[in-house]
Amino acid sequence: MRLFSFFSLLLFFLSYSLFCQSNDNLNIIPKPVATQINEGNFTLNTQCEVWFPADEDKWSIAAEYLGNWVKQTTGHQPRLQPFKQKFTSTRINVLYIVYDPSVTMPEGYVLEVRPKAVVITASTPLGAFYGVQTLRQLFPVKAGPDGWQAPCCRIEDYPRFSYRGMHLDVARHFFPVSFVKKYIDLLAFHKINTFHWHLTDDQGWRIQINKYPKLQQNAAYRKETLIGHYSDSPQRFDGKRYGGFYTQQEIKEVVEYAQKRFVTIVPEIEMPGHALAALSAYPELGCTGGPYEAATLWGVFDDVFCAGNDQTFQFMENVLKEVCGLFPGQYIHVGGDECPKTRWKTCPKCQKRMQTEGLKDEHELQSYFIQRAGKILEKYNKRLIGWDEILEGGLAPNATVMSWRGTEGGIAAARSNHDAIMTPGSHCYFDYYQGDPNTEPLAISGYTTLEKVYSVEPVPEELSPEESKHIIGAQANLWAEYIPTPEKAEYMAYPRVCALSEVVWSPKADRNWPDFSKRIQAHFPRLDALGVNYSKSFYSVVCSFAEGKVKMETAAPDVEIRYTLDGKTPTLKSSKYTQPVALEKSATVQALCFKDGRALGAPAKVSYSLHKASGKPYTLTKQPKQYTGGETYALTNGVSGGLKTWNNWVGLVNNDLDPVIDFGKTTNFNRVTTHFVNSKIAWIHPPRSVSIFASDDGKRFKLLSIKVINVDELSGNTIETVKFDVPGARGRYLKMIVETTGVIPEGFPGAGNGAWLFLDEIEVE
Ligand code: ACM
Ligand code: ZN
Repeated sequence: MRLFSFFSLLLFFLSYSLFCQSNDNLNIIPKPVATQINEGNFTLNTQCEVWFPADEDKWSIAAEYLGNWVKQTTGHQPRLQPFKQKFTSTRINVLYIVYDPSVTMPEGYVLEVRPKAVVITASTPLGAFYGVQTLRQLFPVKAGPDGWQAPCCRIEDYPRFSYRGMHLDVARHFFPVSFVKKYIDLLAFHKINTFHWHLTDDQGWRIQINKYPKLQQNAAYRKETLIGHYSDSPQRFDGKRYGGFYTQQEIKEVVEYAQKRFVTIVPEIEMPGHALAALSAYPELGCTGGPYEAATLWGVFDDVFCAGNDQTFQFMENVLKEVCGLFPGQYIHVGGDECPKTRWKTCPKCQKRMQTEGLKDEHELQSYFIQRAGKILEKYNKRLIGWDEILEGGLAPNATVMSWRGTEGGIAAARSNHDAIMTPGSHCYFDYYQGDPNTEPLAISGYTTLEKVYSVEPVPEELSPEESKHIIGAQANLWAEYIPTPEKAEYMAYPRVCALSEVVWSPKADRNWPDFSKRIQAHFPRLDALGVNYSKSFYSVVCSFAEGKVKMETAAPDVEIRYTLDGKTPTLKSSKYTQPVALEKSATVQALCFKDGRALGAPAKVSYSLHKASGKPYTLTKQPKQYTGGETYALTNGVSGGLKTWNNWVGLVNNDLDPVIDFGKTTNFNRVTTHFVNSKIAWIHPPRSVSIFASDDGKRFKLLSIKVINVDELSGNTIETVKFDVPGARGRYLKMIVETTGVIPEGFPGAGNGAWLFLDEIEVE
């Protein structure tokens, strides 16, 4: 008994000291560089004052922000006191903002919470502002029995990257000024310092330009909007005129609001592509002269700004002049992405321009276009950012590249001495699903979980330390095709922005998913208190199937999973998941996460159709890397892929798929069925043929049947089925060879690149 007590006491002290050294229990996001917890608490009370350096006006921004926060939190408006004297001792109940040049990182700060006062030290008002943001997170979301208390501590902090961005597309759907402000507020809370405002696109022009009134009269509106998903067949429209724009007065108001939160706005004016809305108002700027209409569908359109017409550049000059005058930041984004060259190829003006400028192809013409935009921006002392397509045909001098089609654009930019911002689609597109598409609200496609966002590394391994200096940061994008409301925008952005904030702010060495997955749960009540409609997909259960058993997992630690097989929603009384569950026959598995007796997130619902190959292992000559189907044996997991996301499909680019299934023993079968994706617009082409073989030894295979696919006849977005009736077939091994189209032929999107081949579920009966 005595021994036990001694050990438990020892354990208590050990864990107590660990507790003190670790900063986990402060639960700050993004995680600070260094944290030390001290004894005691500081209490906010009605005597509180905010003191700040008197010498320069921007310190007052951080002070006012802090004062407002105290007022909102406690109801007490603290007195704001500028002070000139050197900071020495601390008065009680003062929240100090102190200038100290020894805090060398420009956005860095030291935050000390003492029992009687708080001291935020920084060499810039910006650093002080981030100290304030951290301080906010030290307080609980509700006052405790002893009031508003924060633990005494010392935090030293500074960001890893100078560019920490978040984007919002207001063209596909329009968001009111009030929401844009809330969005910026939340970015500042997470120490994101750049708001990329995507203001123009095919579906709407959203910024008032005085010189071109038809932009707000016409280009800001579209006739109607697609209902449901692009790939729905038939496509349906709502028949309602839709639009809106920001007046210059509103833009100024947002810019000022952002400045008070040290958020820089990067406005984007798209060119030469994604220009249909502008062309609908000024058709003379297109190659054919129109008429044009703002797009009612999503996608990429052939009608773009004419690069041969001098009026186009006059328009750009005038538009950019007004834009540069409205936005004080150094960067202006000019798009540059997804500009088809179709019209330019047959436009006499564009062809003449190529001739007179000695441009060898339309890519060089695009480069010429962007370089001219760059020259205009230079006149106004601005720097150009463009999507990574601006690399094609030659990069404009001093241009910064936003790498979205993977990391290659960023790598190429850095190697040619240009700055780059990483925003790879796979990890940084927050319009992608963040959980199972069957339980998530409609999204464009993809599968980018919170954990996946957290895992993104902005600096590619390929770069040398010197080249890496050109990676100035990272950004996530919120494209709004499927985001019609502010509530949904918040749902798609949060909590993924929280993960992004840590990627761009915290030291790389401190990136630790298990630790973050604990802190994010303490962060959720903060988001609740801020009225954020964040997604709870973090708690969703993910099922996988192998060797006859369903495995259920969730990203959230310290929770329990309960499941049913009878089609009912799991409750606290349902079976608790402890190990993979054997499935004897086809069934629908529903699984839900519980914590403290409460259900979290939406139940996962997976219908398994079992057949002779279900759960059987197979080999592939080439393993997929990007499209793995989401689990080891996705082709035999009892679940077929759908069109909402490509996540369930097993895919290779310009490569055959050749699974060899091992039944484990000689097996009789009569029918083999499989499915492939036909979506040429998404570069996913049908296979040229599918053949099946049987074998007893896994070495010598006998051809059972071959089907040639008429690839030219297939159009649209469809899932196609291939069925083989092979009565009396038998063997221990079944091999399927699915022959790739190879290179995408001329006339299709992505022509010249390898075609994707997507296969799912090989059903054997
Ligand atoms: C983009 O997603 N088109 C940049
Ligand atoms: Zn033209």
